Amino acid sequence: MAKRRESNQTNKMRLRLDFSNMMSDFVGVERGITRAEIDELGPKAMVIAASIEARRQKGELGFYQLPYDTKTATAVAELADSFQGKCDDFVVLGIGGSALGATALFRALCHPLHNLLSKSKRGGRPRVFVLDNIDPTSVKSVLDFINPKKTVFNVITKSGSTAETLSQFLIVREMLEEKIGKESVAEHIVVTTGEGPLKALAKQASYPLLSVPENVGGRFSVFGPVGLFPAAMFGVDIADLLAGARDMDERCKTDRLWQNPAYLSGALHYLADVRKGLSINVMMPYSDALLQVAVWFRQLWAESLGKAKNLSGKIVNVGQTPVVALGATDQHSQLQLYSEGPFNKMIAFLLVENHGAKMPIPPQAKQSEFAYLGRHSLEEMMKIEAESTRLALTKGERSNMSLILPEINAFTVGQLLFLLEVQTVFAGGLYYVNPMDQPGVEASKQYIYGMMGRKGFESKARAAREWQERKSQYII
Ligand code: PA5
Repeated sequence: MAKRRESNQTNKMRLRLDFSNMMSDFVGVERGITRAEIDELGPKAMVIAASIEARRQKGELGFYQLPYDTKTATAVAELADSFQGKCDDFVVLGIGGSALGATALFRALCHPLHNLLSKSKRGGRPRVFVLDNIDPTSVKSVLDFINPKKTVFNVITKSGSTAETLSQFLIVREMLEEKIGKESVAEHIVVTTGEGPLKALAKQASYPLLSVPENVGGRFSVFGPVGLFPAAMFGVDIADLLAGARDMDERCKTDRLWQNPAYLSGALHYLADVRKGLSINVMMPYSDALLQVAVWFRQLWAESLGKAKNLSGKIVNVGQTPVVALGATDQHSQLQLYSEGPFNKMIAFLLVENHGAKMPIPPQAKQSEFAYLGRHSLEEMMKIEAESTRLALTKGERSNMSLILPEINAFTVGQLLFLLEVQTVFAGGLYYVNPMDQPGVEASKQYIYGMMGRKGFESKARAAREWQERKSQYII
């Protein structure tokens, strides 16, 4: 009985994919995808699915296992609990995949004004700051604001060698040493890292240490300690989050394209890009809370699929450009371009059925200009605006699809993020590229090392100097 209730509950919270407006029946034959085109990809999908399964079994795609690692989740929750009541502020130091997941979870699942609420209204949880940049003004302002005695810093870097994160860490460590004394620093720093140089330092300094498994890439790490520890610190139900991810994993186990939401979504994006010339992929949530999920996805899609070489080493220069927009706000900013500009974009909406707050608009006198607004609510209006945008785009033959969340909670967000991860890996198979590496990012890191004077990178420093001298002639 209890099991049935639980599964009814799960069904009620099930994320849905509406891809009607990607299809030729709705947006015409020129840009729309036909059933035959999807069917044609079916056999390829089965081959990719088999390869994903084999790699998963070999432990090469570690992100698939994260939602099942309850031992780590328990350890993470216990560590987070040990800080509760003792800290007012929680600061994440990380960049890229080591920060975007935490921000997405914070914005999606915490009160929109979390940091402005009193501690009791925050449920005793700390204020949250994610320092995912080295902009000195931002870093200084956060460090000036917090009380070091009542702050926990989570340094997150899988490689343990990212210059931005390490620089922040060195600044924070020195500040803590000065303000609270060397002997107390370990009570204020949690390190989340892989097998790189930070691990040894953390051990030596007795900082609590959370491990990023070697087989989990930065942008695929949100369901591991990289996302879970911050989430537990700011009060997200991480058990529900992981349950949502596992639920989606079950749905994505079939190798039948038409039945697998992540594969189907990946296939639609791929077909839109390579067959229909829709090389820009706009993710547009109709929810402020999901805006950072779109930002998280932007990195996942860009870094995983934007590749020079395919798996055979051939130069292919592929990748669909991800863009972030927000409904309804960007109806008054970007929508004009999406409706009338070049036919080179598809839009993936993130829709929410139950926003929680309704915000009724007060009734107006019948003869008033504003009478049509009265008796509706902002929630209703948000949905009507999303519907009208979808309809207008579809009528203009602009391809769009929607991922629909019954409401925003840890379970549905878990489903959404996991779906997007699987969609990305599957799309990697279709493009025939490695979605797990990021050689382009590495190239820029090497110039950073050179210009910052790291040993072994002298040639990069020289190349940077030559380039700077040469370009000065074009600066007026
Ligand atoms: O997804 C990725 O692999 C990257 O975006 C990394 O997360 C980013 O470069 C930061 O790397 P690290 O976690 O090693 O500091």
